[in-house]
Amino acid sequence: MKAIAITGQGGLDRVQYLEVERPRLGPQEVLIETRAVALNHLDLFVRNNLDTLKLSTPHVAGADGAGVVAEVGPDVRTIKPGDRVLINPALNCGVCEFCQAGEQSLCVRLGIMGESCPGTFAEYFKVPQDNVHPVPEGFSWEEAAALPLVFVTAWRMLISKAAIKPGEDILILGIGGGVSTAVLQIVKALGVRAFVTSGSDDKLQLAKKLGADAGINYKTQDFAREIRTLTDRRGVDVVVDSVGGDSYAKSLASLVKGGRLVTCGSTAGARPQTDLQRIFWNQLSVFGSTMGNRREFVEMLNFVRKRGVKPVIDQMFPLPDGAHAFGRMEEGKQFGKIVLNVNGNT
Ligand SMILES: NC(=O)c1ccc[n+]([C@@H]2O[C@H](COP(=O)([O-])OP(=O)(O)OC[C@H]3O[C@@H](n4cnc5c(N)ncnc54)[C@H](OP(=O)(O)O)[C@@H]3O)[C@@H](O)[C@H]2O)c1
Ligand SMILES: [Zn+2]
Repeated sequence: MKAIAITGQGGLDRVQYLEVERPRLGPQEVLIETRAVALNHLDLFVRNNLDTLKLSTPHVAGADGAGVVAEVGPDVRTIKPGDRVLINPALNCGVCEFCQAGEQSLCVRLGIMGESCPGTFAEYFKVPQDNVHPVPEGFSWEEAAALPLVFVTAWRMLISKAAIKPGEDILILGIGGGVSTAVLQIVKALGVRAFVTSGSDDKLQLAKKLGADAGINYKTQDFAREIRTLTDRRGVDVVVDSVGGDSYAKSLASLVKGGRLVTCGSTAGARPQTDLQRIFWNQLSVFGSTMGNRREFVEMLNFVRKRGVKPVIDQMFPLPDGAHAFGRMEEGKQFGKIVLNVNGNT
């Protein structure tokens, strides 16, 4: 079968469309004939850290995917060939203390499709049966593929960690990203006032169309100062910061006393300067968050279904053009999710 595979650690030339072996099914696994897959920042991370991750080459990338069930292992009961499915990309051991307690994203052996095993960027991919969910009604293949990773990450950050409430104010950094657009869509459905930052005025305009209440260009403005102006000096209740780097101290400075910061990423740097005095004097809470547990995944699916929320698709490429898709993400041009269409996508 054909796949977008990484042939070694390095640049875009290491992202290639080539022939790889079709996955062989274990007893509790499901083989999916792919219709669409979506990129995540994780895919760039995997390509840049292939050696540390100890992955063999060519390595099929990709965490997110959706398609039609082609085959099921002998112990699979509830899923059948022909089902239209999307996947939860988080892989867990099922036996550690955290898995036993239903906190799968804390699993001591947590893995992700395309990061700890072959991924979804291929004509077929396989996943454990517990990772398979029906595509919500009315979703296109592109929307089904684009939804899982960023929406479950956003859901856990907002609901389980920050416990955001209607009437509160939020600041979302780097609104062009997949996680950030998902966060914006969820909080607008919840009745939260949302401020966003971006390095692009065009993206700030697109964010306003999605419901953002105000936008700040982090390249030309000091966003912490702007947030004080926008909130009558008060600050916001919650900051979702998946950027890190120089933004982190400004994120803390944007919070109201007693405010909450949630981080799931460090696109601009993982070891930023912080401000302990501000954290203790203003009694701020800082939450780390990664993906979500199974209950949160189902809650998220129910939420988008009931509220009619669908992921923002930035651009679609055919699978053979996967390297161009990687390039678009690397240059930070996207607003929302970059998707690859596979197998004619019908
Ligand atoms: N822990 C988890 O479970 C989890 C899950 C998903 C993602 N993540 C992490 O979260 C981050 C975002 O992921 P993603 O897939 O949404 O990535 P993405 O689609 O590539 O988006 C990254 C966005 O970050 C913004 N950005 C980059 N540099 C910036 C800077 N210096 N200052 C402010 N904003 C900056 C850009 O926004 P503008 O274009 O608007 O400027 C860009 O669009 C990544 O680091 C990823 O690894 C973690
Ligand atoms: Zn576990």
